[in-house]
Amino acid sequence: MNSTIGRATQRDDWWRTAVIYQVYPRSFADADGDGIGDLPGITHRLPALAELGVDAIWLSPFFTSPQADAGYDVADYCDVDPLFGTLADFDRMLATAHELGLRVIIDLVPNHSSSAHAWFQAALASAPGSPERARYIFRDGKGAAGELPPNNWESVFGGRAWTRVVEADGTPGQWYLHLFDTSQPDFDWSNEEVREYFRGVLRFWLDRGADGFRVDVAHGLAKAEGLPDYVPPADAGSMGGDEANVPYWAQEGVHEIYRDWHEVLAAYGPDRILAGEAWVEPLTKLAKWVRPDEMHQTFNFRYLETPWDAAALRSVVDDSLAAFGSVGAPSTWVLSNHDVIRHATRLGLTPPPPQGQGLGPKSESHPDEVVGLRRARAATAFMLALPGSSYLYQGEELGLPEVIDLPDSARQDPSFFRTGGETYGRDGCRVPLPWEAAAPGTGFGPSAASWLPQPESWGDYARDAQAGVPGSTLELYRSLLALRRERGLGEGELEWLPSEGAAVLAFRNGGVTVVANTGSAPVPLPAGRVLAASGPVAQDRIPGDTTVWLAAD
Ligand code: NOJ
Repeated sequence: MNSTIGRATQRDDWWRTAVIYQVYPRSFADADGDGIGDLPGITHRLPALAELGVDAIWLSPFFTSPQADAGYDVADYCDVDPLFGTLADFDRMLATAHELGLRVIIDLVPNHSSSAHAWFQAALASAPGSPERARYIFRDGKGAAGELPPNNWESVFGGRAWTRVVEADGTPGQWYLHLFDTSQPDFDWSNEEVREYFRGVLRFWLDRGADGFRVDVAHGLAKAEGLPDYVPPADAGSMGGDEANVPYWAQEGVHEIYRDWHEVLAAYGPDRILAGEAWVEPLTKLAKWVRPDEMHQTFNFRYLETPWDAAALRSVVDDSLAAFGSVGAPSTWVLSNHDVIRHATRLGLTPPPPQGQGLGPKSESHPDEVVGLRRARAATAFMLALPGSSYLYQGEELGLPEVIDLPDSARQDPSFFRTGGETYGRDGCRVPLPWEAAAPGTGFGPSAASWLPQPESWGDYARDAQAGVPGSTLELYRSLLALRRERGLGEGELEWLPSEGAAVLAFRNGGVTVVANTGSAPVPLPAGRVLAASGPVAQDRIPGDTTVWLAAD
């Protein structure tokens, strides 16, 4: 066991039931006033997370990076970008988290590096066929003079997935693969040197005391032999997710990599974990990522994408528990993260936009903010009663909506630029957090600076404006998290109960009966003592878009 952990999460298998809160460092809390959040800012605000009642935090990347994709373009995997602080700041943050009983997992980005990484720079300076080029995926182009890309793959962020380099003698040369931005060249994971390098990266952070890793693009590392052409179906999500054999997603070859990493982590004890960001369907296939000798958890994006609808929820919960249960893994649950429209907005949108498009002033989808927040609170109350592990994304405990009217000049997501503005991208869910309603910049930092502009309404959502206020979203999250812990819901088992009509879902977990009304008409409130409710419950009725927890005893 990691000997520095405090009270809450001392069990080796803490991750089976943990509520893990995603900190997006650049938008969480800014200590130095430059408008970009940092590690000292996180350390300063950690007590608020311990008090919220989460078990662990996951930090998005804070490593040395040109920030072309907000840090998912890593130039040095074993150092902290000066924007976020220093390694000593990381150590202080980790020690403080552990003292507070919070586990800390960090982001590992193994599919690609930044083009500023020393290895990629060496590859550019070296000849085709050199060992330096063999760490990435360089190929000769097609066409008489190699002027066409090696295949037809497209970047997740739009445009082609290949960029041609200029060789040292000034002539147009080979092409390199980047499934994301041009500045994010893909590693070649069939190269043992790459594998050994990442074992070193894992050990570097495990030695410092990190409790594990969220693994970025965990379905992308292995590419199909020969890099065959592929045209995604028109309805495929940008990060994959369909069942077809996509030559760059969910290839069998990824699994031996995770078995290898499992061993690396196991040498540090059973409480260090790998959590995969794998957009893979169906869930029975995704379960391969969490076989006993691979990762510990994987994100459940099918759950995130499920509409607020009783039948759809029941089926995703059943499928998840069955699929993950079949390999002895816990299911995870998630509603928001830094890549998707915040669920307080998403659940009130008509029509729902395709995943990955984001939301902006000219989008066809329009939110009803009141309905969105009501459903979001009900959806969270439903999720936090499920057995397994849940992920929360910073700001959802404040009920933050997606920021839709960001000016184009403020946007930073590479997908916005690579699609000529057609995809708004993910900036709208990344706006810095409001902490104190009356402070400049709502208390995000000591100055009013904020790398994305905060909307006028931000003060209304500020943490201090909600703390202690009955019925506020913050107090709802606190009470749900406290009850979940007290009643052992993460460890529990789900038993569906008969329910009042097609829009209602009811289940029992441990001593708690959970009733979710996903429709708009009120339904009768079953007998029992109300422990928590996502909205006002009166006269023995559960209003529409509301979830109630009742004591079954
Ligand atoms: C998934 C991350 O969550 C996203 O933010 C990033 O842009 C891509 N992977 C590429 O690293």
